[in-house]
Amino acid sequence: MTAAKNNIPPLDPNAGVPFYRQIYDRFRTAIAAGLLKPGDRIPSARALTKELGLARGTIESAYSLLAAEGYIEARGQAGTIVTPGLDALVPVAAPTLQPKRNVAEVSFRPDSILPFQMGLPALDAFPRKIWARLGAGCIRAMQPSDMVHPPVYGLPDLRTEIATYLQVSRGINCSPSQVFVTSGYRHSIEMIVHTLLKTGDEVWLEDPGYPPTREILRHMKIAPIPVRVDQEGMVVSDGIRAAPRAVAAVTTPAHQSPLGMSLVLPRRLALLDWAAKNQSWIVEDDYDGEYRYVSRPLPALKSLDRDGRVLYSGTFSKVLFPGLRLAYLVVPESQVEHFEQISQTLAGGSPELTQAIVADFIREGHFARHIQRMRKLYAQRRKATAAGLEGVLGKHMSIASQPGGMHLILRLKNQQSDRLLSARMRENGLYAEALTDWTMVADIPAALLVNFTNVDSEKTAENLARRILELIRVES
Ligand SMILES: Cc1ncc(COP(=O)(O)O)c(C=O)c1O
Repeated sequence: MTAAKNNIPPLDPNAGVPFYRQIYDRFRTAIAAGLLKPGDRIPSARALTKELGLARGTIESAYSLLAAEGYIEARGQAGTIVTPGLDALVPVAAPTLQPKRNVAEVSFRPDSILPFQMGLPALDAFPRKIWARLGAGCIRAMQPSDMVHPPVYGLPDLRTEIATYLQVSRGINCSPSQVFVTSGYRHSIEMIVHTLLKTGDEVWLEDPGYPPTREILRHMKIAPIPVRVDQEGMVVSDGIRAAPRAVAAVTTPAHQSPLGMSLVLPRRLALLDWAAKNQSWIVEDDYDGEYRYVSRPLPALKSLDRDGRVLYSGTFSKVLFPGLRLAYLVVPESQVEHFEQISQTLAGGSPELTQAIVADFIREGHFARHIQRMRKLYAQRRKATAAGLEGVLGKHMSIASQPGGMHLILRLKNQQSDRLLSARMRENGLYAEALTDWTMVADIPAALLVNFTNVDSEKTAENLARRILELIRVES
């Protein structure tokens, strides 16, 4: 039995309906909508009286009516609960609340862990003991001053650690004041739009590209301009032709998301040149630049930014884990004050304790060691997953391993639909994303995107591949 959260919307003194009746309606509605389930505990009449500031008799009248109609039951010491086995009594449609939406339908990625799930690092290989030790240390060291609102630009210690890490590992020369800690890539993009863009501005996006980018921009009334991608990354000349005066370009230079190629040097220089001449911004989404298997990781595009046009977006989601909700944005020196002003207005800051643990994790060298270990592990898992899938599914798809990143691209043969197959996989407890869903206008052959970081052996990959094979057979 769980205690229900008290989600009662405010009562309306002008509704022409007595308060006891409004309370009764709200409970009935919450039960009908499934927000309160049979067995859930509801607040005691005394607690609700206090919370709503009404007369005790008003609440008791509402509760008596609910009890008389069989919606709730008083259980003495155990409190008052929604009547077990109530379903038959409840009206089919809730009168005022929206029906509950399926969370999986509305979020880009599910919260559960499915085989091949995109965006997840190897969860079995995370150094949990070290994390627990550092976490306990940070909690023990917590002072009252650590319990107030966190600094909105990010914890100073973490900003310093990030700046040092970027200098050493990604070739980026920046000061801690240029580093803004955010709650994820979307938050970073939102900050950029609020600070540097205005309604109707055009922004180049790689096509295909990470779907949330175009969704956020559209939501914020910015016009995404699709720019083709070829073997050398974003085709800068196409962007210049399509929208020469675009205010910004979003790019994934290390490993194009999702196709995996790197933006070659001449294109990097052409992009920087265009941005400098046009006073445009480049947003470098370096979401997985650390993971490269064929050579050393490439320096970031930001490391070539002589004119201060590049905003560098990094995240801890791939190198640590996405549940942390910590990312960062490095802004050009000239824009620091502007971003500070916007952060003062819009940012609430990220949890201080989590930032402190990450700062210690980096300072003590665990971060660099973890990345190195994961680079080796992912190289093995990438090879094993590709081999296991190829052995079973080779007739139906060709498997492309990119030089870096965390996913494989399974190009479908025999004109299969990637959307259909990925939907079937999800229905059957496997994960894949359809490349078609990552495109705006690009005409690209159908393919599945599957993450390999949590596939622990070739044998596991073969077993999973057999499950996919069954789904292909059913479909054809
Ligand atoms: C292309 C790309 N950019 C950025 C991110 C990072 O997103 P976040 O920091 O919100 O976890 C991801 C994560 O999947 C990604 O695929």
